[in-house]
Amino acid sequence: MAAVTWSRARCWSLLQGFRFPVARVHLSRPTMTASQQDFENAMSQVKLLKEDPGNEVKLKLYALYKQATEGPCTMPKPGMLDFVNKAKWDAWTALGSLPKETARQNYVDLVSSLSPSSEASSQGKSGADEKVQESKGLMVTSEDGITKIMFNRPTKKNAITYEMYQDIILALKNASTDNTVITVFTGSGDYYSSGNDLTNFTRATGGMEEAANKGAVVLREFVDSFIDFPKPLVAVVNGPAVGISVTLLGLFDAVYASDRATFHTPFSHLGQSPEACSSYTFPKMMGPAKATEMLLFGKMLTAREAWAQGLVTEVFPERNFEEEVWTRLKAYAKLPPNAMRISKELIRKHDKGKLHEVNAEECTVLKARWLSEECINAIMSFVSRKAKL
Ligand code: COA
Repeated sequence: MAAVTWSRARCWSLLQGFRFPVARVHLSRPTMTASQQDFENAMSQVKLLKEDPGNEVKLKLYALYKQATEGPCTMPKPGMLDFVNKAKWDAWTALGSLPKETARQNYVDLVSSLSPSSEASSQGKSGADEKVQESKGLMVTSEDGITKIMFNRPTKKNAITYEMYQDIILALKNASTDNTVITVFTGSGDYYSSGNDLTNFTRATGGMEEAANKGAVVLREFVDSFIDFPKPLVAVVNGPAVGISVTLLGLFDAVYASDRATFHTPFSHLGQSPEACSSYTFPKMMGPAKATEMLLFGKMLTAREAWAQGLVTEVFPERNFEEEVWTRLKAYAKLPPNAMRISKELIRKHDKGKLHEVNAEECTVLKARWLSEECINAIMSFVSRKAKL
């Protein structure tokens, strides 16, 4: 790609015509809705960056700025030999019809991730392992061009709490605009994840109805953030996976599994119904009969069976699983990021609208299921099972 120099002058010319406030304002954790003031603060922050964040990031900043202030790109396409303007045009055009507010938010988040004082700092400094976000139950790091999002509650088999759903949404948001190339989910300890933390319901304050309403809103946003994730998304399934940690795999671009992994979706046993678009992706992937065995009858698949059904890309022997997979992923992370992003968009775009539609419907159905007697009894029986032993 043509070099985009990072002199102040170039920075000004990229962000043409905007007046920046002079004061440096610290940007804290990214917010969900950036105000005009946040946007202006982010622009000041860009001016004060000590290190050149690299061409990729500069182009992203440029594109987001233009989208946030002018909307979708309507400029004529520069000639092939006008490298710098062509790269800028490509970056801006790639944002398509992204709303101005979202572009403004993404710009603020991206700048926040570049700030050294930020909780979510960017990756890419000579392979150093930087912890970017650690919250209860989740560890997000970036190294070698890879954002690694690790379920980190091994004593609870990495069950996903309400807070973890929200932190994953945030981590994906950061990873979609930072300078890492691929994003990988994995689990710590012996499990990949035992799925939704079943005590999310019993711990909820307010009534069951309120918990179900809130749960459905968060679930929908959570799954949407996987549907819309623009970079290659890979699951490194280190052990058994249950519930939503399995159904989500249909939205990943590659799934590598240890031969110790199993795949289990006991929705009927829990009085629940499929989520994460699996009611659409699983039948498409494995045919309705096999999908039925998993999603209705709760048949647990071994890693090899899941591979045979197309849910898993490749199975590795446990003894060299981590080494082989991470070596491969590090090599993939060196491939040209724009080419991968664009190819992913081509592969996924025809299904995107459908996936959002399916997600909305699954959440509505689940909300009703969570309030059903079948589901409440199943959860109560899980919560009280140790007491009964
Ligand atoms: N939600 C809440 N807590 C969970 C959990 C989940 N999904 N999965 C595991 N845990 C907790 C257990 O309650 C236990 O907590 P405790 O030590 O405080 O009692 C701890 O994690 C270890 O689990 P345990 O059941 O003792 O381990 P195990 O090896 O016997 O069984 C599982 C592991 C995953 C098979 C079993 O815990 C289970 O069936 N969990 C529920 C899975 C599920 O139904 N997920 C939702 C799908 S929609």
